[in-house]
Amino acid sequence: MRILVLGSGAREHAIIAALLAEGGHDVTAAPGNAGIATDVETVRIDIKQPDLVTEFAVDGGFDLVVIGPEAPLVAGVADALRKAGVPAFGPTKAAAAIEGSKSFAKQIMAQAGVPTGADVTATTMAEVQAALDSATPPYVLKADGLAAGKGVIVTDDRAAAEAHAEAFLPDGPILIEEFLAGPEVSLFVLTDGEHVVPLAPAQDFKRLGDGDAGPNTGGMGAYSPLPWLAERYGSEQAFVDEVVETVALPTIRAMAAHGTPFTGLLYCGLIVTDAGVKVIEFNARFGDPETQVVLPRIESGLADALLAAANGTLGSVAPLVWRDSAAVAVVLASEGYPGDPMTGRPVEGVDDAEALEGVQVLHAATGRGEQGLTATGGRVLNVVGTGATLAEARERAYAGLGRISLLGGQSRSDIAAKA
Ligand code: AMP
Ligand code: GLY
Repeated sequence: MRILVLGSGAREHAIIAALLAEGGHDVTAAPGNAGIATDVETVRIDIKQPDLVTEFAVDGGFDLVVIGPEAPLVAGVADALRKAGVPAFGPTKAAAAIEGSKSFAKQIMAQAGVPTGADVTATTMAEVQAALDSATPPYVLKADGLAAGKGVIVTDDRAAAEAHAEAFLPDGPILIEEFLAGPEVSLFVLTDGEHVVPLAPAQDFKRLGDGDAGPNTGGMGAYSPLPWLAERYGSEQAFVDEVVETVALPTIRAMAAHGTPFTGLLYCGLIVTDAGVKVIEFNARFGDPETQVVLPRIESGLADALLAAANGTLGSVAPLVWRDSAAVAVVLASEGYPGDPMTGRPVEGVDDAEALEGVQVLHAATGRGEQGLTATGGRVLNVVGTGATLAEARERAYAGLGRISLLGGQSRSDIAAKA
């Protein structure tokens, strides 16, 4: 299959690596990064411009375009591709609102009867105060729109909750949500708007520091499978089945009923509470860094499933073949991340890391100049270890990370440690 992958992060590198591992595909990336460029052809186009992407995809005769990040989805790239007859993996602009607007997601969940935390929407500070008065800490406040991962605060500190509301109210409503206690799980579901194919659950680590200390980030690591989940539900499959029945299918039906059918990948962000699984967020795309640990576990069938989701034929596609393996991803970030990252510093040892068995380095923000590989952003790369067990995968990921050097580089030492 001739496949165009849009995006430039480790998530897109993972998608491309999985397609290449499956074999038989001709992959191009736009714009990609220095790591992706060593694997496939990369093209510098502005992927947020629907017309440009569509022209390139039509001229290039691509069989499928896989849209990685949310920005092109929100810009309507999938709509334009479909209009031109190019199969696009990713929802329309209207359906991507399930990620872009928290209040829209809540409305769909209410219609679908999907379990989620109770919430109140506030548009003034007086309404925020009233909602906080009747809430029990920790307080959970969410800005309604996309806020680059900075829109959510979970805090015991009333003053901090108020300050967050003050900061985001000018941009739109604030949701004050019930605090849900329990471990978080991300479950990806491929869908053609009617049928679903769930992938394996994963867990990510959002805080910068060990033991979940420090600020929120885009994600510092992930692992899959989740042995504690299998223990709790009898099997991982039992958990997945429950989420498909109680969350994914009702949501997809509600999206269709609303006139905004959802196709592509529905990312179910879940908390496993004592009262069952509840949704804390939906995303309209593959998660980062969870994708980096889910896709290496697929042996075959990925490209066919992505194309079937795009074409509306997911009900009759061959099942994905999974490896009996585990994967752990550890993120290496620049000094200063998640604030102002120091960029331009050399990254050394990537080849040495990849020489290790079961180690793959997925690039996120790298460039190649005269002095070799350099860091060009906050999250620089992911070292992914795969193995027969989580323990082996973890050992390999950290052995790989140990061979890589970046001045001031930050990483967590406890990814998948508890699991
Ligand atoms: P989000 O941007 O929606 O993923 O939220 C960021 C993080 O805030 C999540 O990964 C959770 O750790 C936390 N969070 C969000 N909603 C809740 C909630 N209702 N209860 C507890 N924690 C939450
Ligand atoms: N891992 C969180 C996200 O992709 O939004």
